[in-house]
Amino acid sequence: MLRVLLPIPLILLLSPALGHADDAALAACGAAKVHAMARACSDLLSAEARLLATGNAEGKVRRLAKVRGRIVETWAKAEAQAPDSRCATFTASPDGAVDFVDSVVSEILSSVPVASCGAKLGRRLRRHCRNAVELEVDELLAPAGAADERTKVIGRIRTLLSRRWPVKGCGTGPDANEVTRALFRLAGAAAGQGTTRGIRELADQVGLSIGVAIEPGEVATDPDYQSALVRESNSLTAENVMKWGPTQPGPTQFSFAGADQIMALADAERMRVRGHTLVWGALQLPSYVQNASTAAELRGYMSDHIAGVIGQYAGRIAQWDVVNEPLRSTVDPATPDGLDDNIFTQLIGPGYIAEALHLARAADPTAGLFVNENGIAVPGPRQDRFYQLIVDLLAAGAPLDGVGLQAHVGLTPLSAYPTRDVVETSVRRFADLGLDVEITELDATVLFRPPDLALAFAIQGQDYRAYADGCFAVPRCTGITTWGLSDQYTWLRTFFGFDDYPLPFDDFWNRKPAYFGMRGSLLGRLLADS
Ligand code: XIL
Repeated sequence: MLRVLLPIPLILLLSPALGHADDAALAACGAAKVHAMARACSDLLSAEARLLATGNAEGKVRRLAKVRGRIVETWAKAEAQAPDSRCATFTASPDGAVDFVDSVVSEILSSVPVASCGAKLGRRLRRHCRNAVELEVDELLAPAGAADERTKVIGRIRTLLSRRWPVKGCGTGPDANEVTRALFRLAGAAAGQGTTRGIRELADQVGLSIGVAIEPGEVATDPDYQSALVRESNSLTAENVMKWGPTQPGPTQFSFAGADQIMALADAERMRVRGHTLVWGALQLPSYVQNASTAAELRGYMSDHIAGVIGQYAGRIAQWDVVNEPLRSTVDPATPDGLDDNIFTQLIGPGYIAEALHLARAADPTAGLFVNENGIAVPGPRQDRFYQLIVDLLAAGAPLDGVGLQAHVGLTPLSAYPTRDVVETSVRRFADLGLDVEITELDATVLFRPPDLALAFAIQGQDYRAYADGCFAVPRCTGITTWGLSDQYTWLRTFFGFDDYPLPFDDFWNRKPAYFGMRGSLLGRLLADS
């Protein structure tokens, strides 16, 4: 269905049978850029190691400038030989790429407690980083044989690092496994800046879901949206059209027009669908539900709704957010934690959550059933409250398969931008209950970032990477969905009225550091996986 909507040049671009020579030239351009990043990775490690050893900040600045100059030059040369502008648009800006990798380098080396030991680690990693990044060059130029070579090189890197780390005089330091993981994170960050492969291709390869929440009408009327969507994601969520209001506006009236559009797009493009959402007490709940006056009446609505909507697509929707935001909102206004005071808790009580899950399981035994919540990727009383809720649901035998961490970063909790370690710890906490975890609504407000947008975007790149790295470090974290794709359609503008820029693409469909942060993280996972 989507292809029918696509303009002709885009069909040419997407069709593997056509434009084969151009694709090869594009891959060659990407490979030249990644190759340059491989060298940059080792150079930046040396520069940082020297800084740690000598404390000479000026020397580091000089070396950084040199690396930057070389990348600018080699990337421009590669682009000049490319058949069209895609090599430029599919990769980061040279400056952004160097800064990004440099920040990952500093983060990794400074995580070693003693500076001289950080310096030693930097020197040890140099060559390995280069080799790991080069794996992406093989993948771009000779994908057929690349996998075997990858396995060999990765095995060698692991063995070498476990033999040579930790080193004498550095105490226990990080263990070899941690160092290896850090190395692949770094290599991924570097390769992710220059590769011309899309996020979807990488996600498919590594077996993860990277999705987008969409309004079907926006996608249908914007060809740039269509092409970005199919190139960058393998999963879809309805931003609104599968909610209670749109799907069942009256007690006996169902309406699946919007939801059907999502399903048709997903079928045409072979994408997974996350259903969002069946029972949400706070928003987009029709007035007949809001005005229910007895538990029996409300139970009747709830069972009709769940059976009607999840049943409509039984077997076709991979995961459903059966209950959304069971906790009180922290957005407006901030209130003490506890269950949301809504019509469901008022009439049915806290048991409505387990009841909803049972109804959902009965209507579609194959869908993964989730409870989705905001502000819980950061440890604290709110996360504890949610954790307890999940533990209680499992103890009561509720059919629950996973939890969704919304990740409206910077907004819930307000002005909190968690690090990778914080995200990883939070994700692991829920995964350790035997549940799947998904990051379901990723976006990152710039409200609490510097007013200079270029700087704000660079920091946002780190925020996205922190979420992606934190999720991908945990095997049960199966996917990430961003709440929109381009800044121009973000709910932070339409719903809150903010002048905001929270998504991986800018208003004109240019990739932002957030995009490269996520792509780099996926590549890191791919590199470490073999
Ligand atoms: C938002 C949509 O993005 C808006 O278009 C709509 O007006 C309100 O809802 N948490 C959720 C989502 O679970 O359903 C919300 O979506 C954003 C916050």
